Amino acid sequence: MTIRKIQVLQAAHYDLLLLADPDEHLVDGYVKRGLCFEALSNGVIVGVLVLLPTRPKTLEIVNIAVSETSQGQGIGKTLIQFALAHAKNHHYQTVEIGTGSTSFGQLYLYQKCGFRMTSIDRDFFLRHYEEEIIENKLVLKDMVRLSIDV
Ligand code: ACO
Ligand code: ACO
Repeated sequence: MTIRKIQVLQAAHYDLLLLADPDEHLVDGYVKRGLCFEALSNGVIVGVLVLLPTRPKTLEIVNIAVSETSQGQGIGKTLIQFALAHAKNHHYQTVEIGTGSTSFGQLYLYQKCGFRMTSIDRDFFLRHYEEEIIENKLVLKDMVRLSIDV
């Protein structure tokens, strides 16, 4: 598996971006401002990662996704490790990530990678998303914010 910068955003990248974040307008906004990477396996796009500098010395993972057929093989973990190494090499202090309170698997993965919870943005998904999001049989309302110092 190789990870490299995306030169031209293709439909396959977009499908993955929407897997992590169903709001096209939000996605369009941060892909323009952020650093976009792709994970390739035998030349096939299997993952995406978008990093956005948000505050001085702070980099946020605003989108991470692995194609459904390639999930559970360690690609997500490798993309997070890549993000942490990138942040360290570029002299950032902190990497942040936000995810749904109902995203139990993702919360497990991020904590396994060393992220700690910092705050809850209550009703974030009700305020920013027009469509109701159901995950793990629950209505998604709150965003959990996590961070790690690199
Ligand atoms: N449910 C349960 N466990 C999970 C899940 C999940 N959804 N995702 C990862 N894990 C666990 C794995 O079981 C594994 O555990 P182990 O080390 O004990 O074996 C560990 O986390 C690492 O898993 P990977 O195989 O590296 O993760 P994967 O390649 O599947 O990628 C990802 C994880 C990116 C969350 C993927 O499931 C995905 O694309 N999901 C849909 C999009 C999404 O939710 N993206 C994140 C939204 S938040 C944001 O973008 C900022
Ligand atoms: N992991 C995943 N799902 C769970 C868990 C769990 N640990 N516990 C409950 N659920 C789910 C069930 O699957 C069920 O889901 P469904 O409605 O979709 O089928 C739902 O929650 C309700 O489950 P119950 O059968 O009513 O829960 P149970 O009788 O098992 O009691 C409890 C839950 C009290 C947490 C029990 O597992 C337990 O005693 N755990 C050990 C002690 C503990 O952790 N207590 C809570 C500590 S925090 C505190 O005390 C303030």
